[in-house]
Amino acid sequence: MKQLDLLYSGKAKSVYRTENPGELVIKFRDDITAFDGQKKDTLAEKGSLNAGVSTFFFGLLEKNGIKTHLIRKIDDTTMLARNLTMIPLEVIVRNIAAGSMVKNFPIVKGTPLDPPVIVIDFKDDTRHDPMLNDDLVFALKLATPEELRELKQIALQVNRVLRDYLAERGIDLVDFKLEFGKKDGHLFVGDEISMDSMRLWDKKTGESLDKDVYRTGQGDVITSYHHVAARIIT
Ligand code: TYD
Repeated sequence: MKQLDLLYSGKAKSVYRTENPGELVIKFRDDITAFDGQKKDTLAEKGSLNAGVSTFFFGLLEKNGIKTHLIRKIDDTTMLARNLTMIPLEVIVRNIAAGSMVKNFPIVKGTPLDPPVIVIDFKDDTRHDPMLNDDLVFALKLATPEELRELKQIALQVNRVLRDYLAERGIDLVDFKLEFGKKDGHLFVGDEISMDSMRLWDKKTGESLDKDVYRTGQGDVITSYHHVAARIIT
């Protein structure tokens, strides 16, 4: 596998072509951002921590029969992934009320959500990722009714696998965001599943172990990420 030219550079990851058009190299950088990119930093080890956790979780999902873009981890900060046609949706699953749900709606932070709540945002930074509903998804031709049904079903399946795995390690999965892509008519989970894209609370102390540590500026986010990685990667 040869890493060729840069295809795309996001806020925390860079994507490179390979000599095989069906495969991409995804590099997790040390960059961290919050509030639509208004807060930015570069923190040593952040890329390797998120690459480690993300590839671990994708592997765990694969073991549970869920299709993901992971082919294999290449090194500390890079993974080889299937080249998917990405769907510009952010599929958020919530088990406990927090973040924008608490900001936008009259619900108290920490309220358990049973059944889990799925929220779908339109992935478009220039529009600040507005929230969609099913009819808008269809009108914008982002997914067919069948695809949306399957996408939500996969999101809930991912939730069960991750929530149970984390619960056994003393961590509450509060919420997380998934992105999906298509290849050969099938849906795959793409992007990343890391401390940047989830809310994790220590079951005993309630302490945040995710990007909220950075968002709020309380504590050292790399220490928290190390803590999560050590607890989950076996
Ligand atoms: P949410 O509460 O909607 O937004 P915010 O984190 O801005 O308050 O986020 C729910 C979960 O989804 C949270 O774990 C962070 C993750 N997420 C992303 O990774 N990227 C995003 O663009 C958004 C909106 C959320």
